Amino acid sequence: MNVSELNAIAEAMVAPGRGILAADESTGTIKKRFDALHVESTPETRRDYREMLFRSTEAMSKYISGVILYDETIRQNAKDGTPLVKLIEKAGSLPGIKVDKGTKPLPSCPGEVVTEGLDGLRERLIEYRALGAKFAKWRAVIDIGQTPAPANALPSSTCVRANAHALARYAALCQDEGIVPIVEPEVLMDGDHDIDRCVDVTTWVLKETFAELFRNRVALEGMVLKPNMAVPGKKSGKRASVAEVAEKTLRLLKQCVPAAVPGIAFLSGGQSDEEATAHLDAINKLGELPWRVTFSYGRALQHAPQQAWSGRSENVAAAQRAFGHRAMMNGLATMGQWKADLERKAA
Ligand code: 13P
Repeated sequence: MNVSELNAIAEAMVAPGRGILAADESTGTIKKRFDALHVESTPETRRDYREMLFRSTEAMSKYISGVILYDETIRQNAKDGTPLVKLIEKAGSLPGIKVDKGTKPLPSCPGEVVTEGLDGLRERLIEYRALGAKFAKWRAVIDIGQTPAPANALPSSTCVRANAHALARYAALCQDEGIVPIVEPEVLMDGDHDIDRCVDVTTWVLKETFAELFRNRVALEGMVLKPNMAVPGKKSGKRASVAEVAEKTLRLLKQCVPAAVPGIAFLSGGQSDEEATAHLDAINKLGELPWRVTFSYGRALQHAPQQAWSGRSENVAAAQRAFGHRAMMNGLATMGQWKADLERKAA
């Protein structure tokens, strides 16, 4: 393992003003997004859509440090035959790859899942590296049970530990193959819990994750953490102010994330586009932080361009403008320089 090479890639992924585009939706997930637009999901429409994003030259070169791809996409060529990976590289952005194989029910833990994909992972990493991947992603999913919590509330320690262990095994393998791991333990925001329960569970999950990363000898300088923010569950009917989300998120991260980690790149997790930007901005406005704090958004970067595109080639320019706008807003938020006024001016 060459820690300084891994560190240089990780630092580039979280460079000031820039963040990561998560465009690694599985075939099933992108179909759901396309269904909402009444667009058929085929290898060609998926290619056209992603080519539209990666050819958004200004957004890509100024605000997007890296793109997480799905297995199909990393092998696809643009309409003119250029590999999509080359489009990303030409824009000065780094190609990355989702390497987990999704979630499966966790035995004896009803309602809980564990992320699979460790078998054969070394061989897949070697292949992806040859295809141009500089970093990888593995997403663990933790669900918070209903409140008030009974004694056997979710998540179970079985679930938290199994997922933390898999994340660390994946991260160690990535580093051994010269690939920077994005370590993503996502605590879902679907439940009816309040923000403080989200803080408690996220703290627990991150503590377990960093303990496993230590046991598996992962070099913290050569990774990026992709956590959820501290937010109330969607079904709680409660809302937290931007200031509360920022303060509670930063406080818990300071409890859990060693300063050796170069950067934290949040997932958006179902927040609205503007909320995800406002929260990131507010965290960065809280002052000197031990790590770079940026975005690795899927939905919060792609919702607007998907609506604008709607599967029509004549909408490509409008979709690229919508993507460029969200990328710029989030780029500003990585430096605490976003203002709500900038959204209204664009509308
Ligand atoms: P969202 O920003 O839509 O949550 O997606 C990010 C991601 O990569 C989830 O794994």
